[in-house]
Amino acid sequence: MLNGERKIIRPLRWGMIGGGRTGQVGYKHRTGALRDNTAYKLVAGAFDLDAQRGREFGIELGMNSERLYDDYQSLLSAEGKRDDGVEVISIATPNFSHFEITMAALHAGIHVICEKPLFFTVAECVTVEKLAEEKGLIVGVTYGFSGHPLVHQMAAMVKKGLLGEIRIVDLQYTHGFNAGDDVDAPDAMKWRTNPATSGPTFVLGDIGTHLYYLSELVVPQLKVKKLLCDRQSFIKSRFPLEDNAYVLSHYDNGAVSRLWVSSVNAGNMGSQRYRFVGSKASVEWSDSHPDQLTYEIQGQPVQILHHGMPYLEEQSLACDRMGALHTEGLGDSWANMYLWIAQAIDAKIRGNETFLKNHHYPGIKAGTEGVRWLENCVRSADNGSAWVEFQ
Ligand SMILES: NC(=O)c1ccc[n+]([C@@H]2O[C@H](COP(=O)([O-])OP(=O)(O)OC[C@H]3O[C@@H](n4cnc5c(N)ncnc54)[C@H](O)[C@@H]3O)[C@@H](O)[C@H]2O)c1
Repeated sequence: MLNGERKIIRPLRWGMIGGGRTGQVGYKHRTGALRDNTAYKLVAGAFDLDAQRGREFGIELGMNSERLYDDYQSLLSAEGKRDDGVEVISIATPNFSHFEITMAALHAGIHVICEKPLFFTVAECVTVEKLAEEKGLIVGVTYGFSGHPLVHQMAAMVKKGLLGEIRIVDLQYTHGFNAGDDVDAPDAMKWRTNPATSGPTFVLGDIGTHLYYLSELVVPQLKVKKLLCDRQSFIKSRFPLEDNAYVLSHYDNGAVSRLWVSSVNAGNMGSQRYRFVGSKASVEWSDSHPDQLTYEIQGQPVQILHHGMPYLEEQSLACDRMGALHTEGLGDSWANMYLWIAQAIDAKIRGNETFLKNHHYPGIKAGTEGVRWLENCVRSADNGSAWVEFQ
């Protein structure tokens, strides 16, 4: 169980780019990083495109006004001159700026935690991977539910062979918040439906990458061999970006997968659902009921496994925070994910490569694989939804 006790020598000096007052995801980053005050200390920020609003926001967070900056360039330059300058920044800005800000931070010798979808292209990911390697820096990627104890329970059950051989992976992340048109859409929607600011996809990158990464966590032995993606723009002004998509995949061991992402699932308040079907049993987890995992063994009554209970696997109990009596949710998962990234950065600072080899966190490779998956989806969809070999 995690209870906030120190896991690294001292908290990392942390800064944020984006994620300001009007940003949708900024608070999730602060919830994750600051849950344990033993992991990060928020010391600097360029929170907003509107510099004045960004400064005011930082002050309302209780920060030192001297370390609130108009833009990320001033932050990197001024913090670089301080003995107590930031060691790591998080990037919670629209997709198109991730690459530019990540490159600048790495050149300044600062570790990075970046939002998904990481970048627009695999080529950009490879460039960043090389630079991070050269500079000895970590790049973490924020797949929000990757720290949930029941996700790790599913992974442990698959690894132990409790499901038998995995045959089917069934994934869904949908909501109905964009079922109407974009006439009065907020800025957060405008940039998401413009290829120049969102990249080659809308919902596939926005929410589908979460499904893909979590499936990689649970069934890492399965590698996609080929896939077929069918994407639609039900609101025509969003074309060529999709607000709904289906992806069928074949894995190299003969297993198959079906994935549905949508922001036009009218009436649906948003849910992620993961089902892994093996030759002996299945497990299913959804963030609508985050405390419970359904475990169905063929021929036996359905079992509901509850987070935090001693019958769960060690891997799951080790990252439980709330205990079985209380709900374990998204904030707890973000806190785990941020902690694991902090441990990676701390190990890098201390040159502890042995620790890093055995330490799991969503890093640059996880971000790259998400972008690779998107590139393959787009190649298929834009080729008449043809089956394509995964490259
Ligand atoms: N991991 C998750 O669960 C999750 C959830 C939501 C969004 N996201 C991702 O987070 C990113 C941001 O999404 P959002 O919904 O919060 O967007 P948003 O439009 O709501 O907020 C973006 C914020 O960044 C600021 N900003 C933009 N450019 C900036 C710059 N150059 N310098 C400083 N600040 C800048 C804006 O002023 C705003 O505060 C996207 O990449 C999105 O895909 C991830």
